[in-house]
Amino acid sequence: MRFLTRFLVFMSLFTGLISGFSLPKLPIIQFDEGYSQLFGDQNLIVHGDEKSVRLTLDERTGSGFVSNDIFLNGFFSSSIKLPADYSAGVVIAFYLSNGDMFEKNHDEIDFEFLGNIRGREWRIQTNIYGNGSTHLGREERYNLWFDPTEDFHQYSILWSLTHIIFYVDNVPIREVKRTASMGGDFPAKPMSLYATIWDGSKWATNGGKYGVNYKYAPYVAQFTDLILHGCAVDPTEKFPSCENGAAEDLRLASEITESQRKKMESLRRKHMTYSYCYDRMRYKMALPECMVNPEEAKRLRVYDPVTFGGFPRRHRHGKHRSKSRFGGTESV
Ligand SMILES: *[C@@H]1O[C@H](CO)[C@@H](O)[C@H](O)[C@H]1NC(C)=O
Repeated sequence: MRFLTRFLVFMSLFTGLISGFSLPKLPIIQFDEGYSQLFGDQNLIVHGDEKSVRLTLDERTGSGFVSNDIFLNGFFSSSIKLPADYSAGVVIAFYLSNGDMFEKNHDEIDFEFLGNIRGREWRIQTNIYGNGSTHLGREERYNLWFDPTEDFHQYSILWSLTHIIFYVDNVPIREVKRTASMGGDFPAKPMSLYATIWDGSKWATNGGKYGVNYKYAPYVAQFTDLILHGCAVDPTEKFPSCENGAAEDLRLASEITESQRKKMESLRRKHMTYSYCYDRMRYKMALPECMVNPEEAKRLRVYDPVTFGGFPRRHRHGKHRSKSRFGGTESV
């Protein structure tokens, strides 16, 4: 076991040197090795050697899947291809949450994809909540430098004890460093990994101006290259810890290399359209972990309400699930 850990660490350093991304080549799993269907009956289809999943939204229902294990820290990844054409109101989420275990003080780490009217592009949003801090959204939004409906692109979340890093095609786009001032707002309890497609008509595009148009249904999101690399913990354990080989991988990968950091800064400069750190309509003072960058502040000072008008915590599992999950939390 110890040998294996050392070996993984060695491999981490090795691949880190090549790619600038310090994780070993991680195994791609079959759907049923790591996941189960969450909702949506026939609207979830596993195919392609059991390694790919098709999630559909039609007038009947959305669909989604959830990891079989709960994880304390990990690297969670999927290649995703989004529905083409008119997609206003459609929301696809790839996220970690423990909302079903902790109604009042849940944690969450989100990638959300927001559809759009024809001719306007998909937007990505990232967000985190810790210990029920749902009144403090930490959203960032980006436009994309590629067409996410044309090909698969890899979206990944690294969650270690000290960092949360969001990646697109293995390039970091956001780094959240745990600070003392964040207190419980940094997600720190075990979570499940979810992927869902659902109808966000009420809020997703221009605050609900453009709802889902089922004339264009079915909306299909495709997932493949599923990676789950973390500390699966026993849900009954009171004080779980992450101490297997993955913990060391995650610690190492949390240190963004110089070249990766340059790429991240460049992507953020070109593509970030909103950050909670500069939204003075919501937060009179920037939240404590925000490191205000004057250039960014100038560019993002203006609140960008055009994308969509709210941040609901409900409905992401589809209408029929809205009572059982995230029941106690409401939008900002
Ligand atoms: C999380 O919330 C619970 C319940 O509100 C509280 O007792 C606990 O101290 C909080 N944990 C942290 C780390 O802030």
